[in-house]
Amino acid sequence: MALLPILHFPDPRLRTPARPVAEVTEEIRRLAADMFETMYHAPGIGLAATQVNVQQRVIVVDVSHDKDQPICLVNPEILGTEGEEEMEEGCLSVPGVFETVRRAEKIRVRYLSLDGEETMIDADGLLAVCIQHEIDHLDGRLFVDYLSTLKRDRIRRKLEKAHAEVL
Ligand code: NI
Repeated sequence: MALLPILHFPDPRLRTPARPVAEVTEEIRRLAADMFETMYHAPGIGLAATQVNVQQRVIVVDVSHDKDQPICLVNPEILGTEGEEEMEEGCLSVPGVFETVRRAEKIRVRYLSLDGEETMIDADGLLAVCIQHEIDHLDGRLFVDYLSTLKRDRIRRKLEKAHAEVL
């Protein structure tokens, strides 16, 4: 396994839509293992392949307290939603920024497991938010896109400045 570098907003590669995975191969399982390691190490509760510069529809999540409920979703698709709720979100690609986003409260998601099995889950609460956030990444969308232009520009300048100081 390996830690993968995570792209940071406003890197334009975060805007690339990911391609569907044709088949769950050993390569995809290896990618998922690396993504889990990267996510746990960060630490975070979700990571999309887009964030590690792989344009394939793969996300990993684990919202459990003990970090022992890893779920990898290949080609995740939201089939239905119910209700709305607001939650404060952060993102490994937008470090240090936390903002409230409104999303569906409950979702039904279909995906392929790492065994290549078609799987369905009903998610609510943090898991529902996390899956919606990660699927957004696969479509080139970030949680800051739900904020006002003014707020997003302020975040961009803050992160650009942080990067400049590191260099
Ligand atoms: Ni994110």
